[in-house]
Amino acid sequence: MTVDVGHLINTQDTANFLSNSELRNLIEKNTPAFKEVQSALKDQSLPISRAWTSGSKVPEIKLVAQALREKYENILLIGIGGSTLGFRATLQFLKGPFYNLTGSPRIFVLDNVDSILAEQLASFLDFRKTALAYISKSGSTPEPAANFICFYKKYRDAGGNPSDIVIICDKKDNGINHIAQELGCYLLHIPGDLPGRYSVLSAAGLLPAELVGIDANSLVEGATEVHNAIVSKNANENAILALGSALAALANKEKTIHVLFNYGNVLSEFGLWFEQLWAESLGKETSISGEIVHSGTTPFAALGATDQHSVLQLFKEGPNDKVYGFVTIDAWPPSTRLTNEFPTEFEYSYFADHTLTDLLKVEQLSTEMSLFKAGRPCYRLTLRDVSAPAIGGLFYFMEALTIFMAKLWNVNPFNQPGVEEGKNMTYALMGRADFAPKREEYEKALENFEKQSYLLTL
Ligand code: PA5
Repeated sequence: MTVDVGHLINTQDTANFLSNSELRNLIEKNTPAFKEVQSALKDQSLPISRAWTSGSKVPEIKLVAQALREKYENILLIGIGGSTLGFRATLQFLKGPFYNLTGSPRIFVLDNVDSILAEQLASFLDFRKTALAYISKSGSTPEPAANFICFYKKYRDAGGNPSDIVIICDKKDNGINHIAQELGCYLLHIPGDLPGRYSVLSAAGLLPAELVGIDANSLVEGATEVHNAIVSKNANENAILALGSALAALANKEKTIHVLFNYGNVLSEFGLWFEQLWAESLGKETSISGEIVHSGTTPFAALGATDQHSVLQLFKEGPNDKVYGFVTIDAWPPSTRLTNEFPTEFEYSYFADHTLTDLLKVEQLSTEMSLFKAGRPCYRLTLRDVSAPAIGGLFYFMEALTIFMAKLWNVNPFNQPGVEEGKNMTYALMGRADFAPKREEYEKALENFEKQSYLLTL
């Protein structure tokens, strides 16, 4: 993987870019903070470097996947947020959006509360041939818990064997672990200190990958390669230090939106994974030392070339409040050369002998150049190819970059206090017993909130 930060620099326009000396000074200033992250990665005190070695390990994951692959035509994967987004990105990258048309077992990811979707799945899935995999690190997240209850019942009614269910969570004395023990089902563990959005390289992402025939060891191999580069490269040639320092400095120059323009549909789900990782890890009200900081930049995933015909107009001419990352692939698999089918039509004949990949690559460079020319800072991540090590490495790179950003902003990248209150309200209003003392308060609050509605009817 290569990282090009050169187009974050423009000494002629330091309002929108960094100058060479600014970047040099930032790298120097941030080196001590970077070294702390580097040594925490090295000595594995940061959980991302232990994702695949603490908790359930690859050989055990492979055994469970093999048993289910041999027995089932379908897998229904239930989870939400970090528990499923990583796998969705892996699947899209390595097997593409049409995997279920020819792949076996087919895999269906249910990662929202949507009764229409649930009813549709229930109507066409034959539960005698469908395995259930339920991923929830905490086990208390309401959406996957409700979906699990719903499909567990259907599975049992169809005569499904509870011991074939897979549950993936962290090791605790709690409901999800009790249920797994009671069912006598497969139980895999995510390291306790690894939040969902960093769990793609743990059992949460590796088991589903193995289920669809993606080698977990190859994903881990790519992550390890990037890990080794981050922990061994000197400060002045370290991509995390340079890019992280530049992104933090550009945020101070009002570039408060971080666009990741992913080139190719194989990367579209990766964009969603990135949005969650960046937003949930870095958007914090309070710093580690207790000051109100409202940190973070807003992630926005765009898809090239498709979004050149959508948001690019705004990117180029709208508010100059964004920094643009491009994710591109160097060696695409071979593809057919276009033929000269309409030689007398100049809008068509120039494609002769080019491939679709040629077109995508030229479009990416043209878009990046034109944004740079318009005073918009850009950087580029280039993956070697479309392989498991490539996506494994990209996941790890983004996770390490996020953690380094959090270090610069002095915030905790592993918590998500902002989502707790809404979750607690849901528990109380839905009648969860341990939230009963809060129920009256939230019902009152809801009543007052609704009173303030200003309804306009059409
Ligand atoms: O990254 C996170 O911690 C969250 O996005 C979680 O993945 C998400 O809330 C689901 O949580 P759980 O896996 O506990 O069900």
